[in-house]
Amino acid sequence: MGPAWGEKRIAVVTGAGRGIGLSTAEALAEAGATVAVLDRDEEAGRSAAGKIGAGARFFSVDMAEPADIERCVAEVVAEFGTVDILVNNVGVLSTTTISDLTEDEWNRVIGINLTSAVFASKCVIPHMKKAGWGRIVTISSMAGRMGGLTTGVAYSVSKAALLGLTMNLARNLASENITVNAVAPGPTRTELFDGFTHEQVRRLEDSIPLKRLGKPRNVADTVVFLASDAAEFITGATVDVNGGSFIG
Ligand SMILES: NC(=O)c1ccc[n+]([C@@H]2O[C@H](COP(=O)([O-])OP(=O)(O)OC[C@H]3O[C@@H](n4cnc5c(N)ncnc54)[C@H](O)[C@@H]3O)[C@@H](O)[C@H]2O)c1
Repeated sequence: MGPAWGEKRIAVVTGAGRGIGLSTAEALAEAGATVAVLDRDEEAGRSAAGKIGAGARFFSVDMAEPADIERCVAEVVAEFGTVDILVNNVGVLSTTTISDLTEDEWNRVIGINLTSAVFASKCVIPHMKKAGWGRIVTISSMAGRMGGLTTGVAYSVSKAALLGLTMNLARNLASENITVNAVAPGPTRTELFDGFTHEQVRRLEDSIPLKRLGKPRNVADTVVFLASDAAEFITGATVDVNGGSFIG
């Protein structure tokens, strides 16, 4: 495959300090984009930007605060001139079931997983409209497609709602040449699984038709494709990256 874009693209990846976000930021940079690494963890964010190279820069932000997102996107635009690609990746896992759910836990998970993507999108859209080109790719989850195996209620709801956001924005922004798509990963090998025993991981892998956990790069490569010129006619779609764990 040739370069992903005919011209230089500026990409913002939220929660890019580690895991799927870091892998996505690396893959976008390898494909030729200049990447803004957004994270609340300064140490992880700075080291990620250094590792990525290619002009990548770290921007500190609390994605749970819409006002802070607005401030941060303005900083990115001041530094790089615009935003062409937004990857809504930031997210926290929650396993709390409905019986144990508190209002605080609901608001925390919905804030970081869902509200962040709504307001990050709102902040970048004017720049994409001005340029007449844009890509928004949002990381949902298999849990948003089928209710979740072990994930809690707020997590599954937030991830399903991101698919609603994707469909709504895709319809609203198509006339502006902005495409909006989602990626729904199944279990993917990030630090999330560090606490799992060897036996727990083996059982999980055994339940996946392709017999392994996903690699962050499997998700990252899908994001790069959806953000590339090659995906110009795809909008409003959800791409499952789950080894066949959920097919439907
Ligand atoms: N790992 C999986 O198995 C899996 C499966 C399906 C979906 N996902 C989704 O993929 C995305 C990335 O997951 P991951 O496993 O790489 O996560 P991770 O926990 O490894 O990384 C998340 C990053 O987001 C940052 N972050 C968290 N809250 C923040 C906030 N309020 N403001 C700014 N930054 C914040 C963290 O500092 C961290 O660097 C999430 O949306 C997750 O729900 C993951």
